[in-house]
Amino acid sequence: MTTPARPRVFVSRRLFPETLALISQHAEMDVFDGTGSPSPEELLARTKGCAGLVAQGTDKVDGAFLDQLPDLRVVCNVAVGYNNIDVAAARARKVVVTNTPDVLNEACAALTWGLILGVTRRLGEGERILRAGQWKGFQLDFLLGMDLVGKTLGVIGMGRIGQSVAAKAAAFGMRTVYMKSPRRQDEQILGPDGVPYEGLSFEEVLTRSDIVTLHVPLSSETHHLINRTSIRLMKPTAYLVNMARGPVVEEASVVSALDNGWIAGAALDVYELEPVVHPGLLKFDNAFLIPHLGSATRETRTAMCNLAARNLVEVLEGRAPVTPIPGSHIP
Ligand code: GLV
Repeated sequence: MTTPARPRVFVSRRLFPETLALISQHAEMDVFDGTGSPSPEELLARTKGCAGLVAQGTDKVDGAFLDQLPDLRVVCNVAVGYNNIDVAAARARKVVVTNTPDVLNEACAALTWGLILGVTRRLGEGERILRAGQWKGFQLDFLLGMDLVGKTLGVIGMGRIGQSVAAKAAAFGMRTVYMKSPRRQDEQILGPDGVPYEGLSFEEVLTRSDIVTLHVPLSSETHHLINRTSIRLMKPTAYLVNMARGPVVEEASVVSALDNGWIAGAALDVYELEPVVHPGLLKFDNAFLIPHLGSATRETRTAMCNLAARNLVEVLEGRAPVTPIPGSHIP
């Protein structure tokens, strides 16, 4: 009796050894080990003949790509965001698509507070001054920031990560308001104390908040949600935080806002054209900028990789995935 051939999979980035070991128990694995990401041509060439693809948020998976991969049965994104995948095109071709929700909620929420503290307490500026040897010693009015206690946090995107950010606001003495989802106007979202948060319109969140924090997925509806018009609704004393996806914010509008004093500062983890950052942002000390680190803890990134691998194995072995993307084909 001959054993059936093991399915082939392409893994588009080096993953942790334990994840690769898990995949290799179930499949013949080819792993991209170059720097950065494979080019679209290389991604396609190395996925040809594969039943599975373990992808990252920068690997574009659309109808044209899938049309050239008739053997492909599952694409497993190592990310919660899936704006790189055309879910409808995958469904139409009976390709399962999965992401890695939940395991990164706490890491992303914690770092959102890192961004909030970083920009309101001027941590980037302080570090730059210290490292440049320009610190003159304690001074009462040196690098004064803004207190969080008594202020209002406005959450745009009150999903899993947004709610985890909101749950920590009370510890800083802040009240939370959030943007009601246009499709779920009657929904009440309760805080850890069982009291509902105040749901507002997008415009009301912008006008009322001292800190506006973004956690929406990127879609045609959220592309450039923050733009030259909407950013002007924010208070001149307020801060903008982006932990979602770069294109949710029109970076040029943040540059204008900082230039004109329309807002007090911005803290960004993600950018429109990563790894390119709008050069205008770099000249502002009140822009606190970090390089897409939301989920970047050893524990969380390992959990994301392992969840993607579990999804892959489940589908390759004929079972339903653990965390399909909403709208995915389910075998
Ligand atoms: C990271 O950006 C993710 O979507 O998980």
